[in-house]
Amino acid sequence: MQSWEDPIADARVMTSAAAPAVFTEPETSKSAPQPTHADIKPSFDDVVSRPSDASVIEATKALNKLKAEVEAEQRQTKEKRETRKSGGVTGLESIEMGASRIQVDDKKIINCRADLNQLVPFKYEWAWQKYLDGCANHWMPQEINMTADIALWKNPEGLTEDERTIIKRNLGFFSTADSLVANNLVLAVYRHITNPECRQYLLRQAFEEAVHTHAYQYCIESLGLDEGEVFNMYRELPAVARKAEWALPYTNSLGDPEFHTGTIEDDQRLLRDLIAFYVVFEGIFFYVGFVQILSMGRRNKMTGVAEQFQYILRDESMHMNFGIDVINQIKLENPHLWTEAFQQEMVELIKSGVELETQYAYDTMPRGILGLNAPMFEQYLKFIANRRFSQIGLPQQYEGVNNPFPWMSEILDLKKEKNFFETRVTEYQTGGALTW
Ligand SMILES: [Fe+2]
Ligand SMILES: [Fe+2]
Repeated sequence: MQSWEDPIADARVMTSAAAPAVFTEPETSKSAPQPTHADIKPSFDDVVSRPSDASVIEATKALNKLKAEVEAEQRQTKEKRETRKSGGVTGLESIEMGASRIQVDDKKIINCRADLNQLVPFKYEWAWQKYLDGCANHWMPQEINMTADIALWKNPEGLTEDERTIIKRNLGFFSTADSLVANNLVLAVYRHITNPECRQYLLRQAFEEAVHTHAYQYCIESLGLDEGEVFNMYRELPAVARKAEWALPYTNSLGDPEFHTGTIEDDQRLLRDLIAFYVVFEGIFFYVGFVQILSMGRRNKMTGVAEQFQYILRDESMHMNFGIDVINQIKLENPHLWTEAFQQEMVELIKSGVELETQYAYDTMPRGILGLNAPMFEQYLKFIANRRFSQIGLPQQYEGVNNPFPWMSEILDLKKEKNFFETRVTEYQTGGALTW
């Protein structure tokens, strides 16, 4: 008797009982062919054509698709890794014990693979010299006497409404513009400039931008202006906002943590950001404001604010010249980046900057003031833009323009840069004021 607890045994008994009937061969003619093993074994076609295996086919297809996707992803990761490998180091790589000493020829301004934590031997003496000049030009905003400005600002008869507007708009523009420049340096540019002496200057420049923002804050506080109104101006006044809006996409492009140089397209992105910030933002967008405020100082109005701006202008002139040296060095080491199409794009980029700054001149000076008017600024901006074009090896774009503010050239003349710093150090040490 089979127990329900043992179904396998039940099956065995049943199979055994039925066995004779199942395996009894029928009577057949001896000439009839007997099936062979090959006839019995199902072929692959039999299996795949069987409707019951459709799900297997679907599964195979899905598996192949998945495999292809994984392979494509692996390929992309590998390509990315290789691209990164061809980009520059950051200076935060693991220390390679016993690695050979750095040679000048190992150094490259972008995409350098040599250790970035060793400042010397210098390759770019110009960068180191600018770092030394920047340090020699050290100044702090609170060293400048603001007493006369405070008295003039509080005197209802002291300034016209147009003059007050110029002071407020420029403090509004510059107070956030210098932060934007500093953020571009620290969060976008610094990582991709793979040279220690250039980075040394970038660190100095970043501090100077902090001093400039401090200077605007100091002016705003001294004059008792509404801080919220001034600092928020770039989000309230289109004339002030437009320039920051113009520049932001260039820095955003580099600020992405996944961005690395190393391909033509990515190296051009870096070059484009450098031209947008050093040549246009610091080299054109600051100049209407500088001329307006410095003109006031020349007329003995708001001399403290004007003195702050004069020191800032001299720092900015150095920043721009450093940027131009970096741009030209990248071009020299990577001539394949400087294509005809890219040059044309850069010409248009600088021209769009000139148009925007001209608009700023009209917006801030709807009427003539201090012997200045907006058309003079239009002329001046074209004049300085021609200089910028030449400095980075592009053809000048504006014919027959002259400098309506020759006194600005005196301050900016590069040949006098060294003399200026020698003078400045003495003035800084004695606390003397600038002469106008
Ligand atoms: Fe600045
Ligand atoms: Fe600057």
